[in-house]
Amino acid sequence: MAPRNHSARLLAGAALMLLLAATTVAQQAQQQDCSSAKFPAGRSFQRCATLPVLGANLHWTYHPTNATADVAFRAPQSADGWVAWGINTNALAMVGSSVFIASQDGSGAVSVLATYLDNSIAPSLANNTLRLSVPVGPAAEYSGGAYTIYARVELPGNNTVQNTVWQAGPLSGGDIAMHPLSASNLQSTMRLDFLSGNSSSTGAPSSNMHRRNLREFRG
Ligand SMILES: *[C@@H]1O[C@H](CO)[C@@H](O)[C@H](O)[C@H]1NC(C)=O
Ligand SMILES: *[C@@H]1O[C@H](CO)[C@@H](O)[C@H](O)[C@H]1NC(C)=O
Ligand SMILES: *[C@@H]1O[C@H](CO)[C@@H](O)[C@H](O)[C@H]1NC(C)=O
Ligand SMILES: *[C@@H]1O[C@H](CO)[C@@H](O)[C@H](O)[C@H]1NC(C)=O
Repeated sequence: MAPRNHSARLLAGAALMLLLAATTVAQQAQQQDCSSAKFPAGRSFQRCATLPVLGANLHWTYHPTNATADVAFRAPQSADGWVAWGINTNALAMVGSSVFIASQDGSGAVSVLATYLDNSIAPSLANNTLRLSVPVGPAAEYSGGAYTIYARVELPGNNTVQNTVWQAGPLSGGDIAMHPLSASNLQSTMRLDFLSGNSSSTGAPSSNMHRRNLREFRG
């Protein structure tokens, strides 16, 4: 929820004020959580959101003139794991998403796989198959126990509201392996308005989505 929203409700009635004040404090603490993030020189972002699961944050700057967003996705992960962030133009689901997957090899060299999740059972994970226009190549770094993925994406349809997805999972013999099946890994989707920062997540996925997501990222 946007802070703007809270302000409006505060005006609505004194009876709600105590409750809302408590909510606002919680909101600010969260807000600080993502806004205190540090980035290397030359990287800065106008907005951020603390994502509801997997300890992840999203930072972005939206450019209305050319409908692009510069995005930084940061999520904690061990060095032998991967994280991913992406956009789905069809549904609030993993399958059908165009995602950036960051991982590293044994020497600590971080790379990004830019791939379209074509199949929920065994996505091909072929590089450079995004169904998104990406005017600048993505980049990623691993530092302080977290990956950060940097990407510039053209928001499909010049629509500021997009289905966003994110994920984290292990590597197996250097390959991207299936993510865990915890509730958090099955709830990592959110509709985000890159203009207002408004967002909504679906909460518990339907059993259908469960089934689809179970097989996501099987290596
Ligand atoms: C989009 O606009 C921003 C802000 O003017 C600019 O920095 C960026 O290079 C533009 N991106 C593309 C792909 O033209
Ligand atoms: C995207 O939409 C905005 C707002 O309607 C408009 O100002 C802008 O020109 C559009 N950009 C592109 C690249 O179509
Ligand atoms: C995907 O291709 C790009 C070049 O287009 C390359 O920089 C990147 O390292 C590749 N990713 C992987 C995981 O190999
Ligand atoms: C943000 O969401 C609230 C409702 O939660 C809505 O009233 C407001 O208009 C939205 N703002 C924008 C810019 O979409």
